[in-house]
This record gives sequence, C-alpha cells and structure tokens, in this order.
Amino acid sequence: MNVDPFIAGLPKAELHIHIEGSLEPELTMALAERNKVALRFGSIDALRAAYRFSDLQDFLDLYYEGMRVLLHEQDFYDLAMAYFRKAAAQNVRHAEIFFDPQGHTGRGVPFKTVIEGLTRARVDAERRFGITSALILCFLRHLDEADAERTLDEALPWRDRFIGVGLDSSEKGRPPRLFERVFARARGLGLRAVAHAGEEGPAGYVREALDLLKVERIDHGNRALDDAELTARLARERMPLTVCPLSNLRLCVVPDLKDHPLRRMLDRGLTATINSDDPAYFGGYMNENFAALSLSREETMTLARNGFRAAFCDEATKQRHLEALDDYGLSGA
Ligand code: HPA
Ligand code: ZN
Repeated sequence: MNVDPFIAGLPKAELHIHIEGSLEPELTMALAERNKVALRFGSIDALRAAYRFSDLQDFLDLYYEGMRVLLHEQDFYDLAMAYFRKAAAQNVRHAEIFFDPQGHTGRGVPFKTVIEGLTRARVDAERRFGITSALILCFLRHLDEADAERTLDEALPWRDRFIGVGLDSSEKGRPPRLFERVFARARGLGLRAVAHAGEEGPAGYVREALDLLKVERIDHGNRALDDAELTARLARERMPLTVCPLSNLRLCVVPDLKDHPLRRMLDRGLTATINSDDPAYFGGYMNENFAALSLSREETMTLARNGFRAAFCDEATKQRHLEALDDYGLSGA
C-alpha cells in the first residue's frame, strides 16, 4: 500500500498491539518447520487465504491456532523482533505491547520462556532501533478469574518485566465484572490497568471497565458511542480509547471504513488513538491504520499526539516524544 509520506514520517506511539497478532504467515510456517509443529495449511498462501473473518471469535480461533508454533524463548524473540523491525521502519517511537501468557502456558510453554524472549527483543530493539517499549499482560476473558489469578501468581517473579494488565479475547457474555478481584490485586501491585471493552460487547461493559476494573485506557471502546452519557463522561475524564480501524473492518465491527466512528469520537471530544491490534491478520501496521480513514493533517496530528499523551511512559520521555512530534508537524513532509 502506498502511504502518504506525512503519515509515513509521523512519529507514532502504538498502544494496542497483541504481539501474537503480529505473527506473519511466513514466520508461522518457518517456526512450524523449525519446531516440527503440524499445521493444517500447506503453504503461506493457503494460510493467508484463511484470513477472512466473520467476527471476533472467528478470528480468535485462527489466532490461537497460529500461536501453537511458538514454543521456545527464541521463537518469542523472533516474533517480537519482527514486529519491532516493522514498527521502527514506520516511525513508531514507543510501543506498549500486549501478550497472552495463558495462550502459551495452557499449551505447556512456561511463562518464563515467553517473558524472557519478549524482554530480550525489547532490549535489543531499543538498542538497535531506538524504539522504547513496555509489556502489558492480558488475561483471557473466555477463561475464568481463577485462571487469571494463577497467571498473575506465575508472573510475579517477573513483576519488573511488565507494566500493566489487560483483558482480551471473546468479549460477548464475558463482562469486565468477572475480573474485578484480579484487577484489584494487580493494581495493588502497582500495575497499570487497561481492558478491551465495547468492541463487540455493549456500552455497559465500557462502564464496568471504568468503574470496577478502574482502567486507565479503554481498548477499542466503539460501542461507548451508543450511550450519550457515557460518551460525555469519557470526554470529561479524557479517557484514552485505543482504536483499531483495520481490525474493526476485518472483524465486521464496522461495515465499511467510511462509517468508522473515529471521526465521531473526535467530534465528541474523545481522546482517540490509532493502533494496529493484530497487524499480521488485519492487513496493516500503524501507517496503514492511519491511512485507512482519509484524515486531515490536523486530525492525524491530534491522533498521534493522543497516542503519546496516553502512553504509560514517564513524563520526561513523553514530553520528548511530543516535542519531536510538534517539530514534525511544523516542518511537514
Ligand atoms: N479483541 C479481543 N481479543 C483479542 C483481539 C481483539 O481484537 N486481538 C487479540 N486478542
Ligand atoms: Zn486487541
């Protein structure tokens, strides 16, 4: 895809990316061979051809199937390094990255293997590309809270390797209130809190994420717009929403990008940000997501600024990124 040079050169923060969702078909096939994992797809093209989804669950089924090729520390390193290489080439300067430990520990891969591979890639990527990053541990909401509690216990020896917790996977029928206690414990440990809400679930789930999980960002949040009072509250509280345009299209959350709610979000004063979600599966990384919505330069700058403002990095780092962004906006492309 030919991307507007202004978008390509724009310094960006990515706040909603599932590292397992950056597993490209080429790497899936290479890891399947390296690890002797049998796949039901005979070729890269056959795998890519399966990337047509009717809804979130339809995607998640393939997402969990794909991650079966990830077995060793080096696999997690290679996965994350491939993401960082792409992100850096698109001028992503800071990334806060979700990972799904239960998708791995449930298959017998130790938490240590996952976190050490991802951490080694983060450190190398900062040295090689100057990209700063952090990890956010997501609980799978299709599993119960006891499983999330055990996952948090397992993660505690590596408490300094991740900055927060999130909530992802199948949303319908799995409201945030089911995870109130584990989120309270995580916050008590000084972890930041975010949650997917209002992707397929109703506006009420967004309210629960705020009131019960006490999140600092909402991932997606599209359905919040169904509720005028909630929308006004999100604006008043300057609650960031990590919006993912191509994901919304591919998972049929929106019928067409021309009807995407992002512009309505900005019009209603919401702190929206642009993100890629699962870029290997949804047809694009950050640049393609920015390019998907025919935004004005002013809107593009606002969204990029929101990304850095909503990041969990320290204030000095944030200011440095924001100044670089403002300089870019003044010089243009
Ligand atoms: N929604 C919920 N869970 C997910 C997603 C998503 O878009 N991607 C990976 N896990
Ligand atoms: Zn997501």
